[in-house]
Amino acid sequence: MTGEEDVRPSLQTGGPGPITNGSLLDFPRDPLACMRKLYASHGPVAALEDEGRRVAFVFSPAYVQEVLTDIATYHSQFFAIRGSRNSAQRRLTSNILSQNGEEHKRVRRLVIGPFQKKCFEPYHDVLAKLAGDLLASWRPAETRNIFREMTRYMLRVTSVLLFGCDTDELAYEIGRHIERWVALNHAVGIGAFVPDAEAGASYDDLLATAASLEQKVLALIEHRRGAGATGNDVLSRLISAHDDSGAGMTDAELIGQTAVLFSAAHLTTANTLTWTLFLLAQHPRVASALVEELDAALGRAIPSLRQLEELPLLDAVIKESMRILPASAYSHRVNVRPVQFGDLRLAPGTPIIFSPVITHHLPELFPEPKAFCPERWRNFSPSPYAYFPFAAGPRMCIGAGLATMILKFTLTVILQHFRFTMVPGATIDARVDWTMLNPASGMPMRLLPLETGFAYAPVNGSVHDLVELGAAPEAELSRAA
Ligand code: HEM
Repeated sequence: MTGEEDVRPSLQTGGPGPITNGSLLDFPRDPLACMRKLYASHGPVAALEDEGRRVAFVFSPAYVQEVLTDIATYHSQFFAIRGSRNSAQRRLTSNILSQNGEEHKRVRRLVIGPFQKKCFEPYHDVLAKLAGDLLASWRPAETRNIFREMTRYMLRVTSVLLFGCDTDELAYEIGRHIERWVALNHAVGIGAFVPDAEAGASYDDLLATAASLEQKVLALIEHRRGAGATGNDVLSRLISAHDDSGAGMTDAELIGQTAVLFSAAHLTTANTLTWTLFLLAQHPRVASALVEELDAALGRAIPSLRQLEELPLLDAVIKESMRILPASAYSHRVNVRPVQFGDLRLAPGTPIIFSPVITHHLPELFPEPKAFCPERWRNFSPSPYAYFPFAAGPRMCIGAGLATMILKFTLTVILQHFRFTMVPGATIDARVDWTMLNPASGMPMRLLPLETGFAYAPVNGSVHDLVELGAAPEAELSRAA
């Protein structure tokens, strides 16, 4: 895998070599279009090159596996702009996503405890209460932006479950700040790794937002400290590790880890809930089959954690939703030594992108990739490097089990209380903002009473590039059967 950086780049866009010459800014401007074009031109490995600077892309399971498992070679790097020493920006970017080697192992060991299945039981009642509050605020015949609803719901869930804080306003404030801070990091560091001179104007704004976000995060930490920090929540564990002195966490680390956990947990899960509700609304036969499964197993009773694990169609619907519209559209690593993928040699320090949204749509791995087909998951276990909505390997998402539980619980109780349909003619854009595949223009849905069936409603927007909608009912029925 080693080699010197002595290979001349191909000069032809879409030529036989793996390199397209162009502007690196093409990637952050429209990551999805750029990656699709690169894949179409070059296949499993590609690079975008601009005046000698490269960003590389790996799309096939074998290359994804290499990048995700060889953690000594491929380092994780959080945002490019770290800020000066002693700045809020530096503290906020000092977190598990920017740590590697022994430092990463230590922090991962520290935070992973409450994310193990055996710790979930106390979360159940909290979740039942928060989901109950959400449903109580909805009325049949209302139109709601479900993306906004799910984001606010997940801010509360994250705040209470992970941080032992039930002050809604603080949760919403942190959510607003995180959104702005993440957006500014991407604007200033463009996609986190491509320098863009024009973006420099946002730098002061970034530092000010970081300072303000840090104050909110500190308020959350103080709130927990004030309550004794003895709970099973993640924050209590981080704080007591900190108080142990010696091997514990510095204040800077505590701030960085708290902020990253808050943002990693709520954005991704809210986004997945939204896309799954959308896919169900647009596939009435699948939605009805799922309701039948839930009715038979649960009726209107609040599901226990054990029951949630015994609902095969629910499990398949979530897997298929995260295949076709994965919340995390791409991530990247940076190689610390020269590496080679097929004909492509990369000098140390090259950003290397891997993308669930591209790999999950390769027809050789998932036939009819644009079809929402939960049925495909019956007796199907793709390689963890072909299907990786939570990434894979030693840095796989630590919240995958918890997120799956929250998704199952929340979708179940929503379906026990409401039917829903898309607002006809709504524009649903699947756009990559930062690294997230977002419903960029919102998700307007009409809530309906239980007596109403599900009904497909045509929508516009770029979501059609990824999902086939409005399939003949028979096709959908046979897929859902
Ligand atoms: C549907 C919901 C979720 C999705 C789709 C998701 C996705 C991901 C992905 C793709 C990564 C890998 C990023 C990379 O390697 O660059 C990741 C890492 C991570 N996720 Fe999640 N995540 C979800 C929920 C959560 C939750 C609920 C938490 C809880 C706090 C969480 C905490 C983390 C952490 C701490 C990491 C970094 C792990 C490490 O570097 O060792 N995530 N997640």
